[in-house]
Amino acid sequence: MQNNVLILDFGSQYTQLIARRVRELNIYCEIHPFHKIPENVSEFKAVILSGSPFSVRAEDAPHPDLSKIRGKVPMLAVCYGAQYLAHFHGGKVEPSETREYGRANLSVIKDAEMLFDDITENSQVWMSHSDTIKELPKNGVRLASTHDVLNAAYRIDGEETYAIQFHPEVYHSTDGKQLLENFLVKISKVEQEWTPEAFVDMTVADLKQQIGNEKVVLGLSGGVDSTVAAVLLNKAIGDNLYCIFVNNGLLRKNEFDSVLDQYKDMGLNVKGVDSSARFLDALKGISDPEEKRKKIGNTFIEVFDDEAHEITGVTFLAQGTIYPDVIESISVNGPSATIKSHHNVGGLPDFMKLKIVEPLRMLFKDEVRRVGAEMGIDPELLGRHPFPGPGLAIRILGDITAEKVRVLQEVDHIFIQGLKDWMLYDKVWQAGAILLPVSSVGVMGDERTYEKVVALRAVESTDGMTADWVDLPHEFLQKTSNTIINRVKGVNRVVYDISSKPPATIEWE
Ligand code: XMP
Repeated sequence: MQNNVLILDFGSQYTQLIARRVRELNIYCEIHPFHKIPENVSEFKAVILSGSPFSVRAEDAPHPDLSKIRGKVPMLAVCYGAQYLAHFHGGKVEPSETREYGRANLSVIKDAEMLFDDITENSQVWMSHSDTIKELPKNGVRLASTHDVLNAAYRIDGEETYAIQFHPEVYHSTDGKQLLENFLVKISKVEQEWTPEAFVDMTVADLKQQIGNEKVVLGLSGGVDSTVAAVLLNKAIGDNLYCIFVNNGLLRKNEFDSVLDQYKDMGLNVKGVDSSARFLDALKGISDPEEKRKKIGNTFIEVFDDEAHEITGVTFLAQGTIYPDVIESISVNGPSATIKSHHNVGGLPDFMKLKIVEPLRMLFKDEVRRVGAEMGIDPELLGRHPFPGPGLAIRILGDITAEKVRVLQEVDHIFIQGLKDWMLYDKVWQAGAILLPVSSVGVMGDERTYEKVVALRAVESTDGMTADWVDLPHEFLQKTSNTIINRVKGVNRVVYDISSKPPATIEWE
């Protein structure tokens, strides 16, 4: 099943989307940067060339050697890929004279071409390019045009090489998925066997082989990725997987106990470690958000290192790394510069010298959820909102005390439980409460109060990169505000955050 489809990345913002669409067809694919074409490229069943922010005419543009692919493996060249093929193989690419950005409609489609099976004329496609293909490459046969773009799609006669100027991977190309299916299933004869069930079977077998009788340690966070990774490993190696779930004292109300119970019910070999006091102590007097993150990161490493030493003979460290993190680290633009700087301070802790096992490193987030569901993990756990590693520490603005954590946990609990009761929880991507470092005047009964202000935040998003505030029902907000002020001692005012990201961020720190 491996080596099904190769996506060669030329740096387009849409490359990951191509992979998503291919996976939606139940076909496995991998993204590789254009300058690192895998040695075994001929074993792939199809290759897709991505778009790129470059012009093919620029000297520093990607100009890879495709001789191991062309004519040997079916190839679909998208946008930049289509221009690249034309420019270097006898065609002509020039700056376009008309606007070629946004929606367009196919005006002419050549008859009886498999690539366009079940796609009708007038189908909407998405264009995004400033160069245009004036002349097709040698042996090129035009397959489709739009009003403004004569050579919107072509193939090379005598080869299974296809090229399209538009982006089939974006939602606005209404038949884009059909086109990808035509290319991959009908033309390239790739089988649609990449299902969660097949993934679980294959991964469990691989893990058994990779790990054998050795011992693995894994840090559980209560989140989806580490949980699914743990369940997969547990299926493969049983109690040789040692899970550690650390309470940093900055989790949601009751979360440590309830999630720990859930883990035990799932049959995981898990040890709960309550280090709340150690974290609070490390955070004493610290207000700077980055400083908080560093302290929490370092303290976690210390706690985890201590615990890992308790397990004799452990040789592997498992991580819940998922595909977007992997792509980021091998991307055309190189690894991100922001990788955990504090890990380099004072040498590596012992557990970091272990061999790494990452069973989810080829999955997107929604696939992780599907795999989790396939293995019978509680849907409530799989549907949990994202929660930041530093937890409530970055939602308590300013310094952190046990009392502030208590207040925020109560407020957050009322808000989140309310969302669930009102069937709003699943409509929101992420929600939480923020404790502000200001007090305001209020009046309760005959008494003047001077207490804390909390902000509520609920956003919709797909990946956290951009987000918008959710227009929650006013009646819900009103009831939630009343409950918070009546029940949580120390809070006399509730506000609702109506900022989008950008320019704001989701978290306040
Ligand atoms: P921002 O605030 O950057 O948040 O808009 C985007 C997403 O990232 C989460 N977030 C973090 N997650 N450690 C984490 O594990 C952090 O330091 C951190 N800061 C923000 C945030 O909750 C949101 O989902």
